[in-house]
Amino acid sequence: MIFQNKQVAKDIFYVGVNDRQKAKFENIIPLPFGVSYNSYLIIDDKTALMDTVDFHQGEIFIDKIQSQLQGRKLDYLIINHMEPDHSGSIRLIRKYFPEVILVGNLRTLKMIEGFYGETSCLREIHDEEILSLGTHELQFFLVPMVHWPETMMTFDRTEKVLFSGDAFGCFGALDGAVIDTEMNVEKYWDEMIRYYANIIGKYGSPVQKAIQKLSGVPFETICTTHGPVWRENIQKTVNIYDQLSKYEGRNGVVIVYASMYGNTELMAETIAQGLAEAGVKEITIHNASTTDASFILRDIFKYKGLIIGSPTYNSELFPEIEALLQKIELRQIKNRIFGCFGSYTWAGAAVDHLSLFAEKMKWIMIDKGVEEKQALKDNQYKACLQLGLKMGEMLKQSFQQEK
Ligand code: FEO
Repeated sequence: MIFQNKQVAKDIFYVGVNDRQKAKFENIIPLPFGVSYNSYLIIDDKTALMDTVDFHQGEIFIDKIQSQLQGRKLDYLIINHMEPDHSGSIRLIRKYFPEVILVGNLRTLKMIEGFYGETSCLREIHDEEILSLGTHELQFFLVPMVHWPETMMTFDRTEKVLFSGDAFGCFGALDGAVIDTEMNVEKYWDEMIRYYANIIGKYGSPVQKAIQKLSGVPFETICTTHGPVWRENIQKTVNIYDQLSKYEGRNGVVIVYASMYGNTELMAETIAQGLAEAGVKEITIHNASTTDASFILRDIFKYKGLIIGSPTYNSELFPEIEALLQKIELRQIKNRIFGCFGSYTWAGAAVDHLSLFAEKMKWIMIDKGVEEKQALKDNQYKACLQLGLKMGEMLKQSFQQEK
């Protein structure tokens, strides 16, 4: 079939695909709105493809490329990132275009051999090296650990297009349009934060280095590997990645709790009431037993205030809360104002565990946590309201200091 590919800049065409079939990205993160694997083809004296797509969509991908090449050969495949959601069709590309030269840095080339057994027609490039396609000049910027060690970005100096790999990407398939100027992008912002929190969240420092490295690069379009092409939202997109990678939460609170029979849950509701009375307008409550952790992590990255509640379960934290703490620690989430609460039947332990965790994370702790024996009663009910009020005050102070 002949595809009519979307042109995203002069000589540059979108040949990516949507995936609305995969239930979980990396078999761990739910995809309620799907995901796109973006790839771009540059048609110049030489032709160059930017990354490939998940191999499940390989045949459609090949048709899109051939539609654009119209019988010409593919000269280069530029590989910005080797995770198989982007590299998965390399062998297919080689099958259809046997002479194509695979372009990457040293780490990339080793991974190409490791994943796909390819050892010939490879071209190693170095940081800031330039490859000319004729009119288009491609410059490569190595940005290790955004998201894997080999990650790099490619800058088309002629059209001022940055092919950024995972960076500045988001979950959410492309619903028809490709470029942000041609769609309502509101639905993508939360999915960008969820993407960042779950995929790149551990690598705040490398993301910061990458943003600094890009500060002198005059890009006017960002072509990521996931989500829309950014043109009119470049500043907003870069700001989101900048703030998330600096662990700068916004003015709001996420309450995460687990509850076996509703007692800890009632404490969560009461704390939220205290927060609202303190004037906090952005409050999100998640039940860790029913909400997937990827959404909870999204909101933990989003907000500066974090309150976690757990029943004491076999003298430990409730398992879902324990698992969440492990995910938070893995990502080394910093700069949070923290409160905790919990309930127990015969001997309390959850609040102690949560307090120790906050100490380990070097978060600012709101007094000691609130812990109730069995059902919530007057004294601890008031303590829950107070916890919410105190969090509200501390957030207010914190954001006033920043002004
Ligand atoms: Fe979209 Fe790290 O791969």
